[in-house]
Amino acid sequence: MSDRILMAPSLLSADFTRLAEAVSLVEGAGADFLHVDVMDGHFVPNLTIGPPIIRALKRVATRPLDVHLMIDDADATVDWYLDAGADWVTVHVEACDHLHRVVQRIHAAGAKAGVALNPATPASILEEILPELDLVLVMSVNPGFGGQAYIPSAAPKVAAIAAMIAACGSRALIEVDGGIDETTAPLVTAAGARVLVAGNAVFGRPDPGAALNAIRDAGQAAVPRG
Ligand code: DX5
Ligand code: ZN
Repeated sequence: MSDRILMAPSLLSADFTRLAEAVSLVEGAGADFLHVDVMDGHFVPNLTIGPPIIRALKRVATRPLDVHLMIDDADATVDWYLDAGADWVTVHVEACDHLHRVVQRIHAAGAKAGVALNPATPASILEEILPELDLVLVMSVNPGFGGQAYIPSAAPKVAAIAAMIAACGSRALIEVDGGIDETTAPLVTAAGARVLVAGNAVFGRPDPGAALNAIRDAGQAAVPRG
């Protein structure tokens, strides 16, 4: 596992009237991914971005689109997001009846596949699917909104998943999403997270590029030296 901390700023906290500017700002600051939060008003109590916006983002993005599907029945609609240009597609384990089939579909389209876990979902649910995954997304808030407070049980869950990944030889990276800032980033990178999503702590600051790199530096400093 690489020790480099990768940053995935969440466009959910950007100004939706100026998304192209937000993309170029965080890309210029060194963002590794663009995190795109898709919500359906059913799985989570909010409606946000859908395939047309993803298609538009794809036209201006130079970094991979990290698309987080907070939707029911991703089995039925995952192709919409793949066709729109998602590079990484993450589905919620709580919302998929046929998780293995969805992961196969994502891979067949040439994209990377991730699985997300809500705060109350145990790490052990990943046991069978982990060898197939490129990413595990540990939610450190209940999904639905930006700007919520980090839930401390995320770090021990990251550590448990890191141990499972090592045990089965999975290539999966661990990403953490929700309430990540300079203070909480070290808690999850010390436990094994390598991709950090941050929305409010980037776009809610006067200098989003500087904030992104401050979060990365804080997280990087806590990575255990191998
Ligand atoms: C929450 C989303 C997050 C959100 C994170 O449901 O999945 O990606 O944008 O926002 P912050 O960093 O503000 O908690
Ligand atoms: Zn997200």
